[in-house]
Amino acid sequence: MTETLHDYAQILDWYRTCGVDAALSDVPRDHYVAIAPVKLSFKPMTTQAAPHVESVVTPQHIQITPPASQPSTQSVAPPVSPPSAAKAPQLTSPVITAGDHPAIHCETLEQLRYAMENATGCDLIKAATHTVFADGNPEADIMLIGEAPGADEDRLGQPFVGQSGQLLDTILATIGVDRSSIYISNIIPWRPPGNRPPTTAEVAYCLPFIQRHIELVQPKILILLGGVAVKTLLNRGDGILKLRGQILEYTMKNGSTISAMPTLHPSYIMRSPSQKALVWKDMLTLKGWLSGR
Ligand code: URA
Repeated sequence: MTETLHDYAQILDWYRTCGVDAALSDVPRDHYVAIAPVKLSFKPMTTQAAPHVESVVTPQHIQITPPASQPSTQSVAPPVSPPSAAKAPQLTSPVITAGDHPAIHCETLEQLRYAMENATGCDLIKAATHTVFADGNPEADIMLIGEAPGADEDRLGQPFVGQSGQLLDTILATIGVDRSSIYISNIIPWRPPGNRPPTTAEVAYCLPFIQRHIELVQPKILILLGGVAVKTLLNRGDGILKLRGQILEYTMKNGSTISAMPTLHPSYIMRSPSQKALVWKDMLTLKGWLSGR
């Protein structure tokens, strides 16, 4: 059969209807076909393996090289590429060595944002318009963590600004909370094309970013929005419907803990409005926790 332009237009229409709105390469790739697992070899952050700090000029200026006894290994996270003139912020970026994840040497939120915007270990960044870093008040006691940006968030570079974000604002308003009293981010900072769920390898690569983000913000409580955030950060086998509304603990790399409450993702309750009452209940639990401290 010889395809006509009309046939191609129909195929494109069909792709759009299915949610395919970004081309990653000229050749189609079937994401359902098993691919070889990605080998992760991030250097663990232990005191023994602590990198040697060569010079510290300002708190933002860190030069880091691995200890001589530690040969660097090729990791999923290649070194952060040199800053382009247009993107470089007014600070010197951390120097990342092969084998390190770009997140681990970031000492400030600006450095972390910069490391994420220049990350080279995850293809999602190639198709994304923006790295969606965070919104709200980094001094806030409450840090909310969602899954990944959608189309509106990718376009505007801010988390939870689309329909699910508006619903989230409404939910928070019921307990007198707005964006000035929360800080909000996502497990994945780049939109997965067509809003597909992030893959295990994408989550594994992005995990050190959100772990460092939490360490730098030091909130009093984490609100984990949906199953991906819960599974990634709490590492519990139980599903979100079982865990929601409970005040649990998130353990940081240094062993200290932060309270963490899972709740349903706003997108989920948009699809299943009968579950709304559960989120309202969780908000009352949060309100009680905040007033009981
Ligand atoms: N859903 C998310 O999990 N995060 C966003 O930022 C938007 C929608």
